[in-house]
Amino acid sequence: MSEQLQPVGVIGVGWVGLVTAACFAELGHQVVARDILPEKVEALSRGEVAIHEPGLEELLRRNAERINFTTDMDELLEGARLLFVCVDTPPTYSGDADLSRVRSVVQELPEGSDHVLVMKSTVPAGTGESIRRDKPDLAYVSCPEFLKEGTAVEDFMHPDRVVIGSDSGDEAAADAVAELYRPLGGEILRSDVASAEMIKLASNAFLATKISFINEIANVCEEVGADVGEVAKGMGLDERIGTAFLRAGIGYGGSCFPKDVSALKMLAGNTGYHFQLLTAVIEVNELQKRRVVGKLEKHLGSLIGKRIALLGLAFKPDTDDMREASSLVLSARLQGEGAEVVAYDPVAAERASGLLSSVEMASSAMEALEGADAAVLVTEWREFAELDWAAAAERMARPLLVDGRNFLEPQPLVDAGFEYEGIGRTVSSPRPAPAP
Ligand code: UGA
Repeated sequence: MSEQLQPVGVIGVGWVGLVTAACFAELGHQVVARDILPEKVEALSRGEVAIHEPGLEELLRRNAERINFTTDMDELLEGARLLFVCVDTPPTYSGDADLSRVRSVVQELPEGSDHVLVMKSTVPAGTGESIRRDKPDLAYVSCPEFLKEGTAVEDFMHPDRVVIGSDSGDEAAADAVAELYRPLGGEILRSDVASAEMIKLASNAFLATKISFINEIANVCEEVGADVGEVAKGMGLDERIGTAFLRAGIGYGGSCFPKDVSALKMLAGNTGYHFQLLTAVIEVNELQKRRVVGKLEKHLGSLIGKRIALLGLAFKPDTDDMREASSLVLSARLQGEGAEVVAYDPVAAERASGLLSSVEMASSAMEALEGADAAVLVTEWREFAELDWAAAAERMARPLLVDGRNFLEPQPLVDAGFEYEGIGRTVSSPRPAPAP
């Protein structure tokens, strides 16, 4: 069967590129995956995967014979006509997306070839048009990526929608891309390139807006004695609102939301339009990470010399990604207030230790909690739900928990002797002891 399927080219084997390569190989395609970093290519060729993404390593192992990792552009161009660009577009100091990697890929492509550039990287609207002006012979298709870290393989294999944008003259190229995705089911939405680019940015910005919105509702809930979980459930039952992405917490992080919200705001600003709502979304998110400090001070008074345990460091569970993780701002704020910070993360600890050199890394949750004056649940790793919290209460200097993700059932913790603080949650916790 694989002989009849189109070979697929992937440019950039970071997280998106690797998942794309592995999943197309799983569908039976031959894949040529090219990256400029020889050490990365060599490691992948030896079967070593540096990214923690459930199911990915197994998929790569199972399809090793179908995927050829290379640094050689000619090998890529000879091996495949459809080239999926998966290089990263990190934020610059100005908040705009850095397109330098996308540009260097485009510069490397020869004129007059029949290759199709399929843009998976998140780029500002208008990028496709400028690439087409630069390389008029090249067919260009926008196919934004909607994968979530931690469930990327599953998301790829079962997409709710696949957006394929093309402009006049590139319809056949877009048809070929649509054919690749058809076996996966999911609605295939065809549009022009600029609209496809905007769909991606608008989707991420809207989801981030939902999170900042519910976080503000949570903050008001705390003032009026309401429970944000109940509020979100009641709101979400209105099908126009929906329940997804209404989990209050200590802010969104990751490589996508912060970057894409800022990129959309900048994109609008560069056209002279002030996207006010996104300015607020970003500000609310920043402040939300810091509110934990106030919650701790409410119970502990000054944080000077207090030992605070952070449970979880990654920006969300099932990933070791530390990019824009709330734990980075939080630990810096706590240390700024004079606290001693100890942390535990089951997967991200190694990656985090390079970024948090002054944070003590524990090798288990219990070890982190030993002697701590308070704990903050930062990332909702499953193992924290299974922890023996009664034993933890015994081992802490003061059993105080700020549940930054509203992840745990408060009552059993209170019964185990904990002072419990969630985000916008009503809990009948013992009264805070007076500040020393
Ligand atoms: C996000 C989008 O969900 C994907 O559709 C998109 O493809 C991806 O960005 C991207 O542009 O590449 P991801 O960053 O992997 O995916 O993570 P999410 O699961 O969306 O979570 C983002 C952040 O929001 C996390 O820090 C999470 O803790 C937080 N969050 C999420 C909340 O605080 N509340 C919620 O209700 C949901």
